[in-house]
Amino acid sequence: MANPTLLILPGDGIGPEVMAEVRKVVDWFGRNGRPFDVDEDLVGGCAYDAHGQAISDAAMERAQAADAVLLGAVGGPKWDKVPYDARPEAGLLRLRKDLELFANLRPAKCFDALADFSSLKRELVEGLDILIVRELTGGVYFGEPKQITDLGNGQKRAVDTQVYDTFEIERISAVAFELARLRDNRVCSMEKRNVMKSGLLWHDVVEATHAARFADVQLTHMLADAGGMQLVRAPKQFDVIVTDNLFGDMLSDVAAMLTGSLGMLPSASLGAPDPKTGRRKALYEPVHGSAPDIAGQGKANPIACVLSFAMALRYSFDAGAEADRLEAAVEKVLADGLRTADLVGPGGGATVSTSEMGDAIVAALEASL
Ligand code: NAI
Ligand code: MG
Repeated sequence: MANPTLLILPGDGIGPEVMAEVRKVVDWFGRNGRPFDVDEDLVGGCAYDAHGQAISDAAMERAQAADAVLLGAVGGPKWDKVPYDARPEAGLLRLRKDLELFANLRPAKCFDALADFSSLKRELVEGLDILIVRELTGGVYFGEPKQITDLGNGQKRAVDTQVYDTFEIERISAVAFELARLRDNRVCSMEKRNVMKSGLLWHDVVEATHAARFADVQLTHMLADAGGMQLVRAPKQFDVIVTDNLFGDMLSDVAAMLTGSLGMLPSASLGAPDPKTGRRKALYEPVHGSAPDIAGQGKANPIACVLSFAMALRYSFDAGAEADRLEAAVEKVLADGLRTADLVGPGGGATVSTSEMGDAIVAALEASL
């Protein structure tokens, strides 16, 4: 059988630096029974410099064909003045749009060694492992009408419209239920059915999808504002949370801060399953940006990008055991006290550079055999 294909788009700033460390990890799996056909291309400012577009049509075709895409980060002050349609973010937006990536996965997992970085007390976050599934292509960010009108009396009126159709709620809740089966088998759906029609439909469609196809998964519902409170009061009660684009944007950022540094946070965006293979189009990327303030200095933490690849192993390559092994290797280097600059408090110094952190993760993988 042909090897699964992985398209790597390092991007700008610290993107190529953290991706170089992921390459070491990918190569290690290649030497140990999990080979990938790896392809690389440009995205973001570097793609604009090369051919005037934030992602080329050729790169888009490769992304369409790949089993998974792994992206570093895009953007930086160098491209502040490029035309709006060619700005670095346009590359990322085109990937999300053309691959129809409607499901955004944001894990919030607390590594024991970093529990003191949390905004909450250690006992509230120790062992925390939740996954927020945010609907990414619908809702109030895209609904029409969306406009500001002049009312002519010195007043203006701004309108955004929350729109959800049955199929959109069905497919995002199906993703959440499928992922729950790979975890603790529990889903909590969040909306505001008490004040929003879209919340009512959301609730009912999640219920119907559950009854029809996922009755083995435990399902609960929570109003989204109460959910926000519960996330900071007792976050460990959750396994998978599924919610709309707007609530998911906020709740996933709240959950992220429960676990500490931006340099630790991975993400994934998934599309619909291919009718023939069942495989979903997928883009994996760290939550952080291109960090121009530290780019080129060997200071970037590669773990967010490494953990994004772990998500690819789990969700695109049916390699849950390998994903566990990689996450354990990250856990191990942190427990050993290795820290990039973002993981030390005021006064503390980094103990390792970007590449030393990558080497240590590979060494921990090797030691785990
Ligand atoms: P940022 O995430 O790049 O950086 C925020 C702060 O966190 C900086 O102080 C940075 O040094 C630090 N940081 C981020 N990742 C780190 C890592 N792996 N290790 C250590 N420290 C890390 O966000 P910012 O500064 O708002 O944006 C910088 C550029 O990145 C902008 O051009 C922005 O448009 C772009 N951006 C791109 C994203 C993407 O590619 N998905 C997401 C967010 C921003
Ligand atoms: Mg946000």
